[in-house]
Amino acid sequence: MGVKSKQVFVCQECGATFAKWQGRCTACGEWNTVVEEVQTTVSGAAAGLARAGLTAASPQPIGRVSLQETARLNVGGKDLAELNLVLGGGLVPGSLTLLGGEPGIGKSTILLQLALEVSRQHGRVLYVSGEESAPQVRLRAERLGALSDELWLLTENNLQVILQQAESQNCRLLIVDSIQTVFLPELASAPGSVAQVRQCGAELLKLAKEKGVAVVLVGHVTKDGTLAGPRVLEHMVDTVLYFEGDRLANLRLLRAIKNRFGSTNELGVFEMTGSGLHALDDPAAVFLTHREQAVSGAAVGCVQQGARPVLLEIQALTSPTAFGNARRLASGFDYNRMLIIIAVLEKKVGLNLGNQDVYVNITGGLRVDDPAVDLAVAAAIASAYRDRPLPSELVAMGEIGLTGELRPVSQPEQRFREAVRLGFGNVIAAPLKSGAAAAKKLDLKLYSAANLQIALSFMGLI
Ligand code: TYD
Ligand code: MG
Repeated sequence: MGVKSKQVFVCQECGATFAKWQGRCTACGEWNTVVEEVQTTVSGAAAGLARAGLTAASPQPIGRVSLQETARLNVGGKDLAELNLVLGGGLVPGSLTLLGGEPGIGKSTILLQLALEVSRQHGRVLYVSGEESAPQVRLRAERLGALSDELWLLTENNLQVILQQAESQNCRLLIVDSIQTVFLPELASAPGSVAQVRQCGAELLKLAKEKGVAVVLVGHVTKDGTLAGPRVLEHMVDTVLYFEGDRLANLRLLRAIKNRFGSTNELGVFEMTGSGLHALDDPAAVFLTHREQAVSGAAVGCVQQGARPVLLEIQALTSPTAFGNARRLASGFDYNRMLIIIAVLEKKVGLNLGNQDVYVNITGGLRVDDPAVDLAVAAAIASAYRDRPLPSELVAMGEIGLTGELRPVSQPEQRFREAVRLGFGNVIAAPLKSGAAAAKKLDLKLYSAANLQIALSFMGLI
């Protein structure tokens, strides 16, 4: 057999390979991401053996496929119920999950909580820490609650040792914190490089599928918020979870970006406390600001996060442009979508926003992509511009079209119910067939507005 090594240049962002170094990756357009790596390929007899070692799969009729699904590693406790929700009902044995998030957001904490709970309820868990020492992890585990005999720690960076231990320990759950710190010695490139991350990911996937172990990997993110390097990994794993939130505030949001075993739009809401992450009593209400007096530039909208409608406050500020082009800034909301809403407000409603700086912010660090908040964004901007507060106890929902028309939201009844539950007795929405009946049932005042102009006149803004 022959082992061949050759030098290649690999983009650490997208994994594209080049024969020569270049300052900019021509595949993904990123600057300064191409680095030199040594690639080893095994050819000849060894490769042949590897090929022969594969068991040949044979097709079968779909009706004869066994449905014996192994039970999920469902963990009890209110705090981890949020994690279960995001996973689609618990960890699946034999699945590979990637958890991404900024440093210090709480990835190690939530996984240690998960490890403690799974080890208590389901059996052996191996927690591999490539970043922290064993005493550090133990101290943290003690902070999080009682220790468990079935939770075993390993501080190791060599993936071969990790795989060996995971097998010999016969564990149900393997946690690798983080994928960027482990390496395979046969690859020459440094830990964290695309080649290492890809190969380590593949080995861990093999372990998960062959032994039925649930594997969870921690992945770091770059400063612009994407998972560092291992985009390749995102394709490989079954589930990609993303942990976010304001590091200075205590609110933490967990969502699935990809999930082969459940929906991707569930949102888990946690609070970071002195004893780890805890689920909030009323996650739907944390994005609202409670005020004695109504202020201008604030509107309440409603987004649907999976099965959960969430009411949230949208804040806007307009101020005359001092010089040059008007500034526009959106935080938590799509910038281009905001530009469209501003254009509709100018053209269809007649607000003169051309010489105004406009800032839009979603409170609570939430990123919103449900188009149902369009109307609330428009209302917040109009309210800021007019310097007139909106009527209190009002929720605005609806997508705004380019002609200024309002489109109905999805699952309106569920959203109405949530509005009423949180004390909002008035809703402005696009006309709905079932609207009147739903409003009557819920004791809600529903204002039907066919377009933005009508909606804003209900709010007393035009
Ligand atoms: P950590 O899980 O180490 O973050 P990551 O693995 O994503 O880098 O969490 C780090 C922060 O969380 C740290 O600043 C301390 C804080 N923390 C608490 O507030 N309470 C706790 O119980 C724990 C364990 C951590
Ligand atoms: Mg960590």
